[in-house]
Amino acid sequence: MSEKAIKIGLVGFGTVGSGVAKILLEDGDYIKARTGLKLELARVVDIDTKKERPVKLPAGILTSDLNSLLNDKDIQIGIELVGGTKIAKEIQLKMLAAGKDVVTANKALLAEHGNELYTAAHKADKCIAFEASCAGGIPIISAIRTGLAANRIKAIYGILNGTCNYILSNMSKKDESFRTALKQAQDKGYAEADPALDINGHDSAHKLAILASISFGCEILPSDIFVEGIENIDIVDIRYGKEMGYTLKLLAIGQKTDDGKLFLRVHPSFISSDNALARVDGPFNAISIFGHAVGQTMFYGRGAGMMPTASAVVADIIEIAMGNSKKLFKHLTLEPRNKISSSIGKIDELASRFYIKLKVSDKPGVFAQICTVLANHEISLSGVLQHEEHNTANVVPAIVITHLTQQKKITAALADFAKLEIVKSKPVCIRIVDIPEDSD
Ligand code: NDP
Ligand code: HSE
Repeated sequence: MSEKAIKIGLVGFGTVGSGVAKILLEDGDYIKARTGLKLELARVVDIDTKKERPVKLPAGILTSDLNSLLNDKDIQIGIELVGGTKIAKEIQLKMLAAGKDVVTANKALLAEHGNELYTAAHKADKCIAFEASCAGGIPIISAIRTGLAANRIKAIYGILNGTCNYILSNMSKKDESFRTALKQAQDKGYAEADPALDINGHDSAHKLAILASISFGCEILPSDIFVEGIENIDIVDIRYGKEMGYTLKLLAIGQKTDDGKLFLRVHPSFISSDNALARVDGPFNAISIFGHAVGQTMFYGRGAGMMPTASAVVADIIEIAMGNSKKLFKHLTLEPRNKISSSIGKIDELASRFYIKLKVSDKPGVFAQICTVLANHEISLSGVLQHEEHNTANVVPAIVITHLTQQKKITAALADFAKLEIVKSKPVCIRIVDIPEDSD
């Protein structure tokens, strides 16, 4: 392996950028011993060069001038860790045009404009590596693209957002409020600059778009994905679910049916508390992937934060420096959208089980009315729960669990519930997802 240093230019010296700088500066000798590569952090660009950072850089490499990185012909690899979709896209295109391979963790940008950027990279005979864009430190992109390359992928079930998983775990296990848990996730560096992206489910959808694109071989956009976030989750529903044997997770799901239809969705999901994904807590992510040859696989690790994400970024730098990324990137061909858009299934066509909570008057005949609405829409009940409550308003929560039924039937039933005089507030409806588990 060459003794010549591989020079690296980093743009965005924030949470992840600081982690990348830390690894490159502190672990260079170890990386060299393992890989034979001498990696050199040659330039760090950030709009704020005065801010206190957790890493001390060698004198003279921090600048606010992007051109000083672009114009340095010795810098082979450019890392974009700015975030967002506008300036970051310009930065990546400029890096490619300046002859640099690109590494990024920017899932929002790749989900929205991946194909355009990949095309620009192919034209420039460069590559874009994006391991850190999905599931933080878990090498899931590499697993799908190489480890599982022999497989026709049938389904992906993932906990892909560390912030949401941290919030839901802390609400469930520590009885914390949504706001307290979100604030902690922000303080720990898990959340996006705009945390709305985490809690409204769109960050998970960005990651699912990337994972589904490489798994199913076609361009998938966030707009192809049905998305519901966790912003309206009430701790009371987490408790009721727990009592009935379920754990609440924000799941990202991609499924390919035997007739080639793709169903892509992100939504709060009650899963069996016995399922392995139910035991994934805090900022951890996990992805279960089903391949036709391998069966079920499971990947687990830290899904967010400075060092886990930096681990994935540096892995990409090493893969580029070794010449592996470029070979693989050449084969990153995604079917254009016009070929697949008719294959994207609508959520209304999907069957699921459902948890429905109705706040109802505490008087005779209430359950009869609930059952009539369900029967009118051919929805079969699989469980009910009602606790005795003593309140002056005489309103009690009634929980029903349905058997497998189509989404459109539930939507119609919810509209009918809302018309009943006995129903006192908007019904809560959460999907129950029965994740298949491979066994002998
Ligand atoms: P941060 O906001 O912590 O860091 C971004 C940095 O870029 C900030 O220092 C920011 O400065 C700087 N910046 C903004 N605009 C420019 C510009 N035009 N030129 C140069 N620097 C600029 O974000 P993160 O490190 O958390 O995230 C970076 C990327 O990694 C995002 O795409 C994110 O989605 C992704 N990611 C983050 C993970 C995490 O756990 N944090 C995990 C996986 C992916 P200032 O603060 O002054 O605006
Ligand atoms: N905000 C993201 C999360 C960062 O919480 O998962 C990792 O992509």
